[in-house]
Amino acid sequence: MTMTHKHSLIIGGSKGTGRAVAMLFSEKNHKVSVISRSLPENPVTDVNYVQADLEKDDLNPKLDEIVSKNGPIDNLVFCQRYRGKDNDWQGEFEVSVNATKNIIEYFSNNFNAKSGSIVLISSVASKFVLYQPPLSYHVAKASMEKMAEYYAVNLAPKGIRVNAVLPGTILKDENKEFYKSKPDLMKLYADNIPMGRMISSQEIANVVDFLCSDNASAVTGQKIAVDGGMSLIGQESFMLKKLS
Ligand SMILES: NC(=O)c1ccc[n+]([C@@H]2O[C@H](COP(=O)([O-])OP(=O)(O)OC[C@H]3O[C@@H](n4cnc5c(N)ncnc54)[C@H](OP(=O)(O)O)[C@@H]3O)[C@@H](O)[C@H]2O)c1
Repeated sequence: MTMTHKHSLIIGGSKGTGRAVAMLFSEKNHKVSVISRSLPENPVTDVNYVQADLEKDDLNPKLDEIVSKNGPIDNLVFCQRYRGKDNDWQGEFEVSVNATKNIIEYFSNNFNAKSGSIVLISSVASKFVLYQPPLSYHVAKASMEKMAEYYAVNLAPKGIRVNAVLPGTILKDENKEFYKSKPDLMKLYADNIPMGRMISSQEIANVVDFLCSDNASAVTGQKIAVDGGMSLIGQESFMLKKLS
């Protein structure tokens, strides 16, 4: 494995997909910093966990603390989503839109080398209307993707690349038992996703890793779906499939 000492900051890196990214980067010898409200029950070794609420806290002192501990960053990955129960419209905007913008702007002059990478985890909810998540989630994800494009252009002169990843439903440590206990639901995914299975948080982490690597040195402003081909199927074909 290549020895690197890149500093990677993962927003929402304590659980789910963010945790998978933190683990992968830690295995690859990055210095990893994570922001989340709570500390994980099983922390990843050597990760610098910083508690902050993106909805309510003044983030600059926390970001100062992260830079003073591990130095300027090389990679910035946004894996957070609003999980509050109050006002989802305001909460999602603070957590997904305002915090993302403020953190990118803080770091736009604080990247380590001339080859930084920012990855925003979005969702297919940016282009489709999903029944379950509220309007706020759809609008926030569309905003994050526009930010990816906007900052890709505006930060390119500084050597910072910005991309978005659009996962389908993710199988992660936290929901594995749930899906295992629902074979009919798993079969539904298997029967309808072109690749015949759900995708995992590890597979999202692998794409984030690629986007943060030199192998992606000319990739910026892109929106990459990681959904086993699910979003390629036309809705009408989907509907008619039930008849066949
Ligand atoms: N899960 C899916 O099937 C799926 C599908 C498509 C897209 N996505 C997207 O993929 C990303 C990761 O999803 P996930 O399901 O892995 O998320 P998750 O398990 O809910 O993890 C979210 C992370 O964000 C942190 N977080 C939440 N609110 C916060 C706040 N106010 N301040 C600071 N940190 C906060 C959480 O830690 P604390 O709770 O400790 O704060 C946690 O580390 C999200 O952007 C999501 O929209 C997920």
